[in-house]
Amino acid sequence: MPSPLFRRLRRPPTLDLDDIQATLLRARPEPYFGTHAILEITEPAAGRELLRRLAPRVTSAARWDEPQPSWLALAISYQGLVALGLPETSLASFPANFRAGMAARAERLRDTGVNAPERWEFPFGTPRVHVAVTVFAASEDDWRAEVAAYEKELGEVPGVRLLSHQDFAADGFNVFGYRDGFSQPVVEGSGAEPLPGDGRPIKAGEFVLGYPSETGVPLPVPAPDVLGRNGTYVVFRKYHSHVAAFNKWLHDNASTEAERELLAAKLVGRWRSGAPLALTPERDNPAIGEDPNRINDFDYSADPRGLRTPLGSHIRRMNPRDTKLTVLTDVNIRRIIRRGTSYGTPLPPDRVKDDRKPRGLDFIALGARAIDNVEFLQSEWVGSGNFMGLGKEKDPMISLQDKGAYFTVPGTPPRRVQNIQSFNTLLGGEYFFMPSLSAIRWLGSN
Ligand code: HEM
Repeated sequence: MPSPLFRRLRRPPTLDLDDIQATLLRARPEPYFGTHAILEITEPAAGRELLRRLAPRVTSAARWDEPQPSWLALAISYQGLVALGLPETSLASFPANFRAGMAARAERLRDTGVNAPERWEFPFGTPRVHVAVTVFAASEDDWRAEVAAYEKELGEVPGVRLLSHQDFAADGFNVFGYRDGFSQPVVEGSGAEPLPGDGRPIKAGEFVLGYPSETGVPLPVPAPDVLGRNGTYVVFRKYHSHVAAFNKWLHDNASTEAERELLAAKLVGRWRSGAPLALTPERDNPAIGEDPNRINDFDYSADPRGLRTPLGSHIRRMNPRDTKLTVLTDVNIRRIIRRGTSYGTPLPPDRVKDDRKPRGLDFIALGARAIDNVEFLQSEWVGSGNFMGLGKEKDPMISLQDKGAYFTVPGTPPRRVQNIQSFNTLLGGEYFFMPSLSAIRWLGSN
């Protein structure tokens, strides 16, 4: 059985795949290994030298559907573009929220309290976060080889400093035990044919700069064209996951293992196997979770009240599909490509005491509107319930919960499950621009 992440190229691609970075279209392998590194450029010439050296190592999206042992992605923050010495006319052509950076957008993102930038881990929230390098690999050996090759280049450029290095590895299930990362929009022109439930392909300009978007015209492309075209934006958010608190909440509110698994599924809208409640509401059916043709083959038309998939569950909030919303929105411009990764060892469901080990998720969203969309999602669909008629209720998996918060499981009567906690807290993050391969070469030579 192929992984549900697997997509086969079935139409001739029309996008410039040789110039677009692989990560935009290439799903991560299952299992996966990798590293996220954050670099600081202390001299413009050194930054350009690093880009020149890394350019041949950055992988393109050509043949994105074929397995590849490892690949490297590179993205640059606004402060990174400044540190590279980009001219003012070019800097000014980037969108305002990208230029401000994630920490400055905390209010819009609802990153307050324990999630506030003042509490973030170094180097996040400082103006020193310039370049993000990510290595993805399908095996430990390939990961080590790819990281060693990139580190060799880094070691030869003294004006660039490594600020943080984070390794990750997982089998496709996140630290809470859910299969993760498979429901993705299909990009028009990528060559992918939608699988059942994927919906129609979304215009390429929603994900890659320089192509027509859902509105018929391309979104603004940063200047000059060689820099902006075939690039995209990246939202990176590092979360610490409170898995013991999550397990304890399930134990406090459900008395048997079967009840706990059902409650865990109600929070997300899917069983941990990935099988959606929409298709199998009473009990898990792991075969659906492994089947790319069935895992997304549903909508919410038969479930307007959320009796199967709660209106407030994570996936129904993040992609309401055909749910009738009280606040009118075009859901097709709210899609993001997710390339998040899990770090640390999962904690089994029977462990209710925190072992204080680092574990969590690095949430990564890509798209031409990724920054606007994550800001929108965080403030409207994560941090509020109004759009679904749920008042103050927030996303049960990823929001900062107030004291006395609850999660509603619709039914007759509905059940309010009390004392829901903040199961994921933010350790930091940043907005990045992911340049095309030709833009990386251009940046390196200018
Ligand atoms: C620690 C943080 C998070 C956890 C544990 C988590 C978990 C999950 C899981 C288990 C799924 C279902 C599997 C899948 O479709 O791939 C999912 C889907 C999704 N999540 Fe998250 N998520 C997290 C953060 C976020 C954030 C910050 C956003 C956006 C602001 C987000 C947006 C989405 C979207 C758009 C989907 C796909 C929904 C669909 O198409 O049906 N997630 N997440």
